Amino acid sequence: MKKNTKLYETVAALMASGKGILAADESDATAGRRLAMVHLRNEAENRQDFRELLFAAQGIEEYLSGVIMYDSSIRSSTDSGIPFPDVLTAKGIVPGIKVDLGTVELHGFKGEVVSQGLDNLAERLVEYYDFGARFAKWRAVITIDDEDTPTDAAITMNAIFLARYAQLAQAAGIVPIVEPEVIYAGDHSLARAEQVTTRTLQILFQTLQNYRVDLEGLILKSSMVLAGDMNPEPSSPEQIANTTLRAFHMSVPYDVGGIVFLSGGQTPKRSTENLNAIAKLGGQPWPITFSYSRAIEEPVLMAWQGKQENIPEAQKMLLHAVKMNSLASLGKYDPNKDNKLKYE
Ligand code: 13P
Repeated sequence: MKKNTKLYETVAALMASGKGILAADESDATAGRRLAMVHLRNEAENRQDFRELLFAAQGIEEYLSGVIMYDSSIRSSTDSGIPFPDVLTAKGIVPGIKVDLGTVELHGFKGEVVSQGLDNLAERLVEYYDFGARFAKWRAVITIDDEDTPTDAAITMNAIFLARYAQLAQAAGIVPIVEPEVIYAGDHSLARAEQVTTRTLQILFQTLQNYRVDLEGLILKSSMVLAGDMNPEPSSPEQIANTTLRAFHMSVPYDVGGIVFLSGGQTPKRSTENLNAIAKLGGQPWPITFSYSRAIEEPVLMAWQGKQENIPEAQKMLLHAVKMNSLASLGKYDPNKDNKLKYE
């Protein structure tokens, strides 16, 4: 296969040391649920105001290498008419785009889902490239329910769709982020989460290799290995770090371009502490950093409350959140020294 070195340049830019990726790629429906937390209506103007607050914040480029957008936001502009991808590119931040179209039920497999969006994907990628996108994201959802769920069948179908998406993205000059999210909600143990994550990643990477996806030109977005949020057994950041890295070493080929984490419903502070513990375990075969949505955006949203006069405070919170995660990606986060703002 002919190698596309442009892809590697994008991977290197995204995985630059001390930086991470902001996932601001909520679908319009999900963005509406976030806005409802501060009693704002799910209107295009509110979604645009919040994203402008995020993307225009001064200094974020010191800590963010990329921002993932959604179809409606990559087409959107600031109040003064500058397209969002141009705002990011001007700061040296790589624009990205979420391209899956959400999940649908996998018939015959109770509670399991498959992500859709392959139809017309090649054409959509060409358009997104023209908008400035140089990387993309496809999220698959893997839920832990009982001993039999997730099934290999559901994991495999998601892996095939991820592989097809990754092929199309690379052919379009766009770095694919493949995101098999093992869902945090539930009462499963840490050991069960490790087993499912390892199995999911093994099937995924075997499939990506079968379909000749160039692993160097690809980024894995993974959940951390966590006991379910309803599991009573507490795990320390060190346990989480060891378990997560063990799962990766069992399943992620060393030539993969990088690994980024989603926050998955953990609090901002836990997401940062756990990333810090992972980084503290020392150099790994892959660069590793954050690609959070909720753990970065929620404190910002709370500070903003939809009010013009709160924008400076909200942007200060954004800068704080990305800086804390930047420190954590280097294993240098110290909650006593660094955590001055209300960032729980
Ligand atoms: P969270 O950090 O909120 O889990 O979102 C990351 C993401 O990109 C999910 O697809």
